[in-house]
Amino acid sequence: MKYILAPSILAADFRTLGKEMELTEEAGAEYIHFDVMDGMFVPSISFGMPVLQSIKGATSQVMDAHLMVQEPIRYIEDFKRAGADIVTVHLEACGDVDATIKKIRSSGMKAGLSICPDTKAEEAKRYLPDIDMLLVMSVHPGFGGQKFIPESLEKIRALRTMTDALGLDTDIEVDGGIYHSNAREVLDAGANVIVAGSAVFGGDTMKNTKEFMEILKDYE
Ligand code: DX5
Ligand code: ZN
Repeated sequence: MKYILAPSILAADFRTLGKEMELTEEAGAEYIHFDVMDGMFVPSISFGMPVLQSIKGATSQVMDAHLMVQEPIRYIEDFKRAGADIVTVHLEACGDVDATIKKIRSSGMKAGLSICPDTKAEEAKRYLPDIDMLLVMSVHPGFGGQKFIPESLEKIRALRTMTDALGLDTDIEVDGGIYHSNAREVLDAGANVIVAGSAVFGGDTMKNTKEFMEILKDYE
């Protein structure tokens, strides 16, 4: 199992976004986490396809698009064209979860499925064999800089137990309120992909990324 850092550019300085991404790449972050908010599924609006298309070439990092969007099936092909490598949709936002996952995969991308803090691990179980990544939201989606919800740890453990029992090597990504101080708890619970926005881009990006990479190294 690979242990990966996915810096969330929601917290970055957009004036120098390409440069900020380069710093994270140089320091070892393999993914860029791209938070798309539609003002419907979540209250806020962030950015979409044109921004992804523009930053895609800035680094060779994997573009990890997290769609906090109602009925994301409408935009799968657009995100493929814009350069997404992984598309994660919310179980709560899809009229037909199976069809959405199928469409992501048939478009040639990895499929992720995300669950909000109020959605039980059990509800995601039947989709596990069909997805590449399960994204556990450890804050209520919609804004960066929130506090980690401690109950998320139990949910991560439950999901890792499920994937192990099914013989799957599904990635478990965790998103929201992750800092250097609590990253180990999340990894110990069974996650292997960590999203961090404020903890990477708040301050010295290179140093912050390197410190996360030091933590991840202990789990390889
Ligand atoms: C929240 C987003 C997160 C957010 C994380 O809805 O999905 O990716 O950017 O930000 P931090 O790490 O600051 O909690
Ligand atoms: Zn996210």
